[in-house]
Amino acid sequence: MNAHAFDSLTADRLRENGSLKWTAFPGKIGAWVAEMDFPVAPPIAAALHDAVDRSMLGYLPTSLVAGMVDAYASFAADRYAWKVDPERVRPMPDVLTALEHTITHFSRPGSPVILPTPAYMPFLTLPGEMRREVIQVPMLRDADGRYGYDLDALDAAFRAGGHLLVLCNPHNPIGRVLEPDEMLAVAEVVDRHGGRVFSDEIHAPLVYPGRRHVPYASLNETTAGHTVTATSASKAWNLPGLKCAQMVLSNEADAKIWHEVGERVEEGASTLGVLANRVAYAEGRDWLDDTIGYLYGNVTRLGELLDGTGIGYRAPEGTYLAWLDCRGLDLPGGADGIAGYFREHADVVLVDGGQCGGAGHGFVRLNAGMPRPILEQAAARMLESLDR
Ligand SMILES: Cc1ncc(COP(=O)(O)O)c(C=O)c1O
Repeated sequence: MNAHAFDSLTADRLRENGSLKWTAFPGKIGAWVAEMDFPVAPPIAAALHDAVDRSMLGYLPTSLVAGMVDAYASFAADRYAWKVDPERVRPMPDVLTALEHTITHFSRPGSPVILPTPAYMPFLTLPGEMRREVIQVPMLRDADGRYGYDLDALDAAFRAGGHLLVLCNPHNPIGRVLEPDEMLAVAEVVDRHGGRVFSDEIHAPLVYPGRRHVPYASLNETTAGHTVTATSASKAWNLPGLKCAQMVLSNEADAKIWHEVGERVEEGASTLGVLANRVAYAEGRDWLDDTIGYLYGNVTRLGELLDGTGIGYRAPEGTYLAWLDCRGLDLPGGADGIAGYFREHADVVLVDGGQCGGAGHGFVRLNAGMPRPILEQAAARMLESLDR
């Protein structure tokens, strides 16, 4: 299905298909959880059908893992100019599992986790489940609504005992794609304190024209030496239910530790997920480029629809997530915040920025990975609800 065909998917059809996004809140437009509404890329669908026909549903074969890590290494070389040793690309069930094991094996025992905010919601809660404190470091926001790191505050967080910094690039929920200079400035702070970085690059394939994804660990030997990178085909090709991600180890010391502790975790990646990730990286590039074009049309259209409405919006540089500044709207609060208002009065389900840390209050996250006519309807309903 080419990008234009995405337009014809209706809300009824999406509900019938039964995704979490469209069924958890019956009758409403699902624009919350980060999954896209589009049909799976044809080469991936064909490979999955074929695997089922051949009853390839057993434990994960080594040859399949080898194919997947090779496909990722080629993709990283072609798209990011990052040469990784395929042996150091490890299968994982998902990116959050990679974070959990990075905290356990690669950060100082008991040390707080440093988290720039706004942040992807589970980053705020997962460390606590592991009895680790989170030090939130609010990001700076310029007059145009573009976010950047507060280097002094990051420095203070390390001085307060933090050891592992969680970076997210491209960033959920704010949509930033980091530039090398900004990352080098962060790296200097990390290195000064002997810190570690978990670089979540799950949205890496999804960057818009004029932007380029540069993996943090690819910058230089220092960043390679202090970073664990996690990524997956799951966002860009919409495969999160298949449970497969990649953890990239960029130094010998980490690879040695992981070799001793990682086997059982790696077995959590599913056979079909590893297959689908391999096919995505190797054969899904045309579909990806078409889809990026469509998503770019969506995030651009959203800007036209919100212009002059009082909802602040700066189009994302990557990801299909739109971060909407509603602080000027004077909406009634409530337990669910502003997202609760739009859910009740516009029948549009969003993520409330308050779930993204203290720096997210007054914002909502809208998932624009949907057919454009539905996106237009969602925006129209949100704006109408403000006129009541
Ligand atoms: C930045 C980011 N990291 C991690 C995840 C979760 O990924 P996984 O399902 O692989 O744990 C998401 C999902 O939305 C995400 O946006």
